[in-house]
Amino acid sequence: MVRVLVLGATGFLGRHVVRHARRLGCELSLASRRLGHDLANADGCSRLLDQVRPEVIVNCAADMGGVVDAARRPAAMLTTNARLLVNLYEAVGAVCPQTTIVQPVSNSAYPGDAALQREPDWRDGPVHDSVLPFAPTRRLLYALAACYRDQYGVRSVNWLVPNAYGPGDDIDPTRVHALNGMIIRMLKTRRRGERRFTIWGSGRPVREWCYVGDIAKILLTSWDRDDQIDPVNIAQRQGHSINVIARLIVEELGGGVELSHDLGYPDGAPTKILDDELFRERFPDFRFTSLADGIRRTIRYYRQVLFR
Ligand SMILES: NC(=O)c1ccc[n+]([C@@H]2O[C@H](COP(=O)([O-])OP(=O)(O)OC[C@H]3O[C@@H](n4cnc5c(N)ncnc54)[C@H](OP(=O)(O)O)[C@@H]3O)[C@@H](O)[C@H]2O)c1
Repeated sequence: MVRVLVLGATGFLGRHVVRHARRLGCELSLASRRLGHDLANADGCSRLLDQVRPEVIVNCAADMGGVVDAARRPAAMLTTNARLLVNLYEAVGAVCPQTTIVQPVSNSAYPGDAALQREPDWRDGPVHDSVLPFAPTRRLLYALAACYRDQYGVRSVNWLVPNAYGPGDDIDPTRVHALNGMIIRMLKTRRRGERRFTIWGSGRPVREWCYVGDIAKILLTSWDRDDQIDPVNIAQRQGHSINVIARLIVEELGGGVELSHDLGYPDGAPTKILDDELFRERFPDFRFTSLADGIRRTIRYYRQVLFR
């Protein structure tokens, strides 16, 4: 039985990692602030690793939030995200250097203007200003992984992750991932008996979406692989515009909602999708959850948590 420590186990991705790890029969330890571990505290982080001595750490701990939250408290967010990573690598180097660290890296770490996100280019340009409170720390993660491998032999397996959606996310629409936020707002619109739904922006930007459970599965089947300091995309090379997603949600809810746009919201880059060549080499048979299935499961989840 593999001894796995999930950091950020109470978060959106962390919960799915925990669920899959249970199915795989791992010996599990969980950590997050809600569970009494502030990993931004270096001593606390090191004590935890000393107690658990994990073979694998799946690192889903981060100070996240939507763009609105990031704009409200950018300094605090950046500082915590940098501390979480520095503390983790420092503690692993000192306490358990034989541990493998598996971690998602948000694709917001790509250059802000990259339409097709290809791994060799992921550090070839500045990140978008709107993601300054966390995206640069994902590049710090890469540097830490490389330096701690060179000095202490620590193994890291890093994955670049597209926009996630699915059950288990926050219920505050300003903090959740974009697709989940749209489902929440649409469910509330219908609940109020309104027939018009306003999309924030033109709805034209095309993004790649990935069901959160798929990301968790991939993280959990990759710890025994070779060191992967240079992150690989978890990718389908497939994008859908916000308008298409909105229409899919409306369809799933049985129709009867008219879509309009609030052009006061900025659109961001027109297209962002991830190249899948390296991913397909590593997981040639992986079948991603279809968008329709994923949206159906997400709607079911939010119906339960919002209106019970
Ligand atoms: N590109 C994407 O859309 C995408 C998608 C999925 C995941 N990711 C990456 O996956 C990671 C997790 O994202 P998420 O969406 O799951 O975030 P999330 O829902 O906000 O969860 C973050 C987790 O980190 C924990 N945490 C935060 N600060 C902590 C601290 N000081 N000490 C201990 N635990 C702390 C939180 O615990 P408490 O709530 O108990 O404080 C929570 O369990 C991030 O690195 C993110 O970039 C990216």
